Amino acid sequence: MFAQVNDLNMFYEQRGERSWPTLVFLHGFPFDHSMWRHQLDAFGTTHCCIAPDLRGHGQTTRLNVAAGQVDARVSIEQMAQDVIALLDQLDAQQATVCGLSMGGYIAFALWRRHAARISRLILADTKAGPDTTTARENRFRLAELVRAKGARAAADAMLPRLFAPSHLNSPAAHEIRAIIERTSPDDIIRTLYALAERPDATSLLDSIHAPCLVIVGEHDAITPPADAELICRLAPGARPPVVIPNAGHLSPLENPAGFNQALADFLA
Ligand code: MLT
Repeated sequence: MFAQVNDLNMFYEQRGERSWPTLVFLHGFPFDHSMWRHQLDAFGTTHCCIAPDLRGHGQTTRLNVAAGQVDARVSIEQMAQDVIALLDQLDAQQATVCGLSMGGYIAFALWRRHAARISRLILADTKAGPDTTTARENRFRLAELVRAKGARAAADAMLPRLFAPSHLNSPAAHEIRAIIERTSPDDIIRTLYALAERPDATSLLDSIHAPCLVIVGEHDAITPPADAELICRLAPGARPPVVIPNAGHLSPLENPAGFNQALADFLA
């Protein structure tokens, strides 16, 4: 389905009835809504699940842009405003928000400005802190590589760190490669800059009194379990992190049964 929100023709998948409690899934970078397919299958029978393709990703496009015109508005803050605009259109006053990695950064941005709209938070394979200097430099290097060689360079560079070693040749890894390679290099570059510029969310954590589930893959090399533990230590609403066995950074895809069990226990 598509909705016109802000300057976007935003794609989103919806499962379940609008009258059911809203559960929003925010994907990581540079993926799309389909990374949540196991969760949509499992929770679309009890919740109104909404999984958008975020700005610059998947089937979401900008309205009325000339070909080749780069989106100057990409930021984590803007992506959060897009999500709120989508919820407004769907008449969802409150939602449980589940974000993975970049989706978690967006969930923090939502909490910063729209906490009243969030009933519960699920933060998966993400972190509150900003990029280190080295991480920023790595993003700028990757941006240059993508400018020179295209989206495939992003897939080559990112894949080994996204999955646990045992899943590197899995169908899920091939799917994720295909999604990255379909993403426009300009959008990848813009989003890399937006990620590098995102604000530190650490000082926000002590305001998170809403029930908060923190999930992390045991082999997550990008946002390892220590990042999840920090969130749980500082956020009053968080319970101890759930560590998903046999999973890396993409725990909902790598171990869907383990991820869904954690989610089901929390939502029950
Ligand atoms: C993601 O999965 O969204 C990215 O790994 C986030 C990041 O690079 O910080």
